[in-house]
Amino acid sequence: MDYFEYKNGVLYCEDLKVSAIAEKVGTPFYLYSHNTLKRHYRVLDEAFEEIPHLVCFSVKANSNVAILRALANEGAGADVVSGGELFRALRAGIDPSKIVFAGLGKTASEIEYALREKILMINVESSEELMLINELASKMDVVAPIAIRVNPDIDPQTHPRIATGLKESKFGIPLSQAMAEYEVASKLPGVNPIGIHQHIGSQILKPGPFEESLRKIVNLANSLKVLGVDIRYINIGGGFGIQYTEEEALGPDRFAEAIIPVVKECNCTIILEIGRMICGNSGILVTRVLYNKSSGNKKFVVVDAGMNDLLRPSLYGAEHRIEPVIIRRGVPDLEVDVVGPICESGDFLARNRKLPRVERGDLLAVFTAGAYGFTMASNYNSRPRPAEVFVSGNKAYLIRKRETYEDLVRGEAVPRDLEST
Ligand code: LLP
Repeated sequence: MDYFEYKNGVLYCEDLKVSAIAEKVGTPFYLYSHNTLKRHYRVLDEAFEEIPHLVCFSVKANSNVAILRALANEGAGADVVSGGELFRALRAGIDPSKIVFAGLGKTASEIEYALREKILMINVESSEELMLINELASKMDVVAPIAIRVNPDIDPQTHPRIATGLKESKFGIPLSQAMAEYEVASKLPGVNPIGIHQHIGSQILKPGPFEESLRKIVNLANSLKVLGVDIRYINIGGGFGIQYTEEEALGPDRFAEAIIPVVKECNCTIILEIGRMICGNSGILVTRVLYNKSSGNKKFVVVDAGMNDLLRPSLYGAEHRIEPVIIRRGVPDLEVDVVGPICESGDFLARNRKLPRVERGDLLAVFTAGAYGFTMASNYNSRPRPAEVFVSGNKAYLIRKRETYEDLVRGEAVPRDLEST
């Protein structure tokens, strides 16, 4: 459920007309609904209330500090994967004791940063990383709380590009080596193994793969406890799927129902690193129609947002619902490709999509763009990245200015030798 609603054919975000915001900030822009964000966070949090748990919002899904702050106000922690994400989470006021740090290529300085900030734990992805964390923590005279990311070799039945828990994936340590790795870790003076981490993939629509992998993880936790390794946290990763177009999304209750009985068996605090389910449907991308054109039988609607603004359709063939912001009555549906201005054939927001006939200047809303939307935006074709707007009730806030041409060249320098010629 979200708070983007049509009233008499006019799209509202909470109490405000989307078209009125577009007139103020220009297009394209991302638009987020505070009440949708809060609702999704709360429903997820409540679904797991029966067991000790911590929701660490996955910052990669949406890293705007205003979004992070709104979630911090709800009590959320953060799952970060870089020094930059850690910086954002701290800047937003997220409690360091609720931050977990994942990612298989952490640098020494990122690890030191995390240790200085005393975050909850670092999720370790390889034996060499474990050794480096031990070395750096020992130098700093601290003990690093860690979890080892275990690869349970599970098929999450999702898009291959976002499946991460199969044995051929680059992530984690194979389950068969996990015991040995924990034994090593438990003897190192600079690390304290307190958790087990898994993340099997993203946009997973059924709880089955979680049940299957968590059974393996819980067995591992119990065997480790017998060996005297004090495992207190199981981080089940993220990946709960949501509805984009036709797919049936289960909602957090159904995931909780399946997961709780499995994880209950080991008396641990559960960490949920959810991104998409919290913020996906809390955001839309608003774009303006520039031109209609056709080529043979093919009809194109050219809009002012491209793959640099929303990469998911081009990268994964992802389908996002697209609707006019103001619905015209009595207009026929046409089958069109909604394409952006980027010089690539792969630049599209939708292909072969039925859309009411639109005209130059019309606004379109691309739904479910709150996760992996702005965070994957780029400046390709030297396009300034879009603005971001946050609506709470009847108030709208600009939470990120549209980039300017000056922003595009900031930090660039022409070597003096070139200037003199
Ligand atoms: N934890 C880890 C270790 C992850 O790698 C991810 C996502 C998450 C948590 C959060 O997963 P979520 O709950 O959002 O599914 N760009 C792709 C998604 C890539 C996901 C990468 N890792 C997309 O646009 O669909």
